[in-house]
Amino acid sequence: MSKLYSNKYGYFDAERNEYVITRPDTPKPWVNIISTGAYGFTISQAGSGYSWRDHAQFNRITRWDQDLTRDNWGKYIYIRDEDSGRFWSPTPKPAGSELKNFSCRHGTGYTVISGVCREIESELRLFADMDAPVEVWELKLKNTSGKRRKLSLFTYLEWCLGVSPDWHREFDKIFITTEFEKKTGIFWATKTRWGLPDPSGRPWARPYEFVGFHATFPKAESFDSDQREFLGVLGENGCPKAVREGRLSKLQGRCNDGVASLQSSIVLKPGESKTVVYLMGATRTREEARKIVARYSAKGAAEKAVRKVQDYWRGLLGELEVKTPDPSLDLLVNQWLPYQAISCRMFGRTAYYQTGGAYGYRDQLQDSQATLPLDAKLCREHLERAARHQFSDGTTFHWWHPITEDGQKKKNSDDLLWLPFVTTRYIQETGDTAFLEKKVPFFDKGGATMREHCRAAIEQVLARPNPRGIPTMVEGDWNDGLSCIGFDGVSESIWLGEFLYGILTDWCEVLDLIDDAEARRNAARYRKAAEKVKKAINKHAWDGDWYIRATYSKGVLGSKKSRIGKIWLNAQTWALMYDMAPAARKAKILKALNKHLYREFGPLLFHPAFSKPDPAIGHISQYAPGLRENGGLYTHAGCWAIIAEALAGTPERAFKVFNSFNPIRRGAKPDHYLAEPYVTPGNVDGPQSPNFGRGGWTWYSGSAAWMYRSLTDYILGVRATTRGLLIQPAIPAAWKGFSMKRRFRGATYRIEVANKSRKGAGRKVQITVNGKALRGNVLPIAKKGSVVNVRVTIESE
Ligand code: GLC
Repeated sequence: MSKLYSNKYGYFDAERNEYVITRPDTPKPWVNIISTGAYGFTISQAGSGYSWRDHAQFNRITRWDQDLTRDNWGKYIYIRDEDSGRFWSPTPKPAGSELKNFSCRHGTGYTVISGVCREIESELRLFADMDAPVEVWELKLKNTSGKRRKLSLFTYLEWCLGVSPDWHREFDKIFITTEFEKKTGIFWATKTRWGLPDPSGRPWARPYEFVGFHATFPKAESFDSDQREFLGVLGENGCPKAVREGRLSKLQGRCNDGVASLQSSIVLKPGESKTVVYLMGATRTREEARKIVARYSAKGAAEKAVRKVQDYWRGLLGELEVKTPDPSLDLLVNQWLPYQAISCRMFGRTAYYQTGGAYGYRDQLQDSQATLPLDAKLCREHLERAARHQFSDGTTFHWWHPITEDGQKKKNSDDLLWLPFVTTRYIQETGDTAFLEKKVPFFDKGGATMREHCRAAIEQVLARPNPRGIPTMVEGDWNDGLSCIGFDGVSESIWLGEFLYGILTDWCEVLDLIDDAEARRNAARYRKAAEKVKKAINKHAWDGDWYIRATYSKGVLGSKKSRIGKIWLNAQTWALMYDMAPAARKAKILKALNKHLYREFGPLLFHPAFSKPDPAIGHISQYAPGLRENGGLYTHAGCWAIIAEALAGTPERAFKVFNSFNPIRRGAKPDHYLAEPYVTPGNVDGPQSPNFGRGGWTWYSGSAAWMYRSLTDYILGVRATTRGLLIQPAIPAAWKGFSMKRRFRGATYRIEVANKSRKGAGRKVQITVNGKALRGNVLPIAKKGSVVNVRVTIESE
């Protein structure tokens, strides 16, 4: 077995594509976020977590308390030895402290937790069914002792069934009804109140529209639905009264405290193993659940279902594969980053540090980029979803909730612009210009083609007052924490100006493809507008060694004269990404970034951090210095520094910057870093924090998609354009080369790169396509279904 990047708590198993945790006491919960979009659950190495259907906040199926230290809320199993009366859990929580040979293997779409206790080996595999709103826990038990063992098995979970947290538990429990159906062995849970307004807005009129169900094979013999009965008065889930005594009270109906416990029993001869399968989920009707239960009653059904999950992820992630001299980069690109972006950010929209369920307008649009080389349909679906949540004046929700279809309508500066930004990327990837003519309704009234939706967003921003040619900041911009900037109507955002410049330029590429009279007219206008913004920024926003970040009521944010926030990352990286600065300035920016912002554990969002709240700035100043967005690494923005360096022609630095916050490398010191090594954290504490370098807010971070793109498109340098795949690697000189298999417009490109460049020298590439020399560095668009062999040689200029 090839163990990679082992540390005290675990390693990557490169053969099985799993991260293996070898002891339960990881410094923070090291979790998996498993979701199919319609259904999902979180699972930590301790065996804890919660489940949801469609929306993790509005349709939470099981209760969970966000306590990352105790991590003691979940859906649990107890194994009781009927001869001795001793019991334990097959997971560290709630009663598995005596488990030996512990391991927790997180894979794509499943997790397996194993151990041995009292000569019973256990292996618990958890996954969500691809086709039905149900999760499956397969528990394999093996008797390694020399005697016959009679075991009773108990499950325990607490129903939430609706809006989470159901903080007023004594109130919420009144609405839950439970029922054990003896014939089928299914435990049902319904609720008469959802806690959401009904479609006409009446707040108290909506019953919960689903039925929770829980079942086991072999069929349950007994059950319970009352928390007090199960745990006992003053009881804890580590030592529940029901398991101590070995029997459940068979309470059901209304007026209990909605939990579920099922009891079943098995006998294991010496050396014998048996598998018990548990189901839990929420369907619209009992009929639907019955069908699911019937399907799983067949032998081998769980095995078949988990294969389907594994095949789905293998197929999806297999669309883009790389082999480079850096195994950590391969692990991130081939598996973990796209998995994080899709399973957690797109499908689940929830995690451990942040639980959610809503769509952030800018957030999921950016995330959807990760799907482009893998399954662009997912991106297209999301573009349409985003367009449906745009208003006819071009503005959008800041975030919105599926199910209730309401949200926060905020005139935020940048949200709306991510629609044309990602639409451009989609067109570059697919060439699907027909999509631009697709009609999609606005949220408020009327409808428009996708092209008009994008146009509405751009026009809305262009129409806003911008006396000096730099767009106004309206209630913050990408940097949410600058939440108070822009209320005065006189603030300017330099970053937004750069972003707008990029969008106008990009969108013209799309308009050129459409090439009708209107497209030509708009392209001419947008090119002019882009030049105007660029000029204004270079005229008003240059501070001598870098660009300022914003102007606001108190003056300038991000100047060398400022005491706090002298220099901000985004205002520099985006200028480099879109090549907006004249050469001399570019050199100064690169120097300034290196001197002020690139730190041991990644590029700081800005420096120095705020030390006290500043009401003229917003909530960024309320965070402790160095934490979250206040002057630490904000991983999402850190990825833009990788791209900026790659595009600025400084490949060594691009790679060094990446490695400074490469989570796999950071995982080498897990007690310092704390976070999971296999996914990106939202942030890493900056130098003003006493925990400089500590990672946090893992999984639910827009950085996954951006780190993915920064590696595939910019470091490895293979990126989609409207003309074909562009080849522009920015790999370290020490690499001999790399290979990439990538699908593009229905063809498979096998790209072999040989690197003969020297450190510090300029670079050029020589390319052959199917043996023939190519002029330039854009691969021609090949026939669908064909295989294109590409050889690239990088040489010094
Ligand atoms: C959070 C928000 C995102 C924002 C970022 C930076 O991650 O979800 O929309 O861009 O913070 O402020």
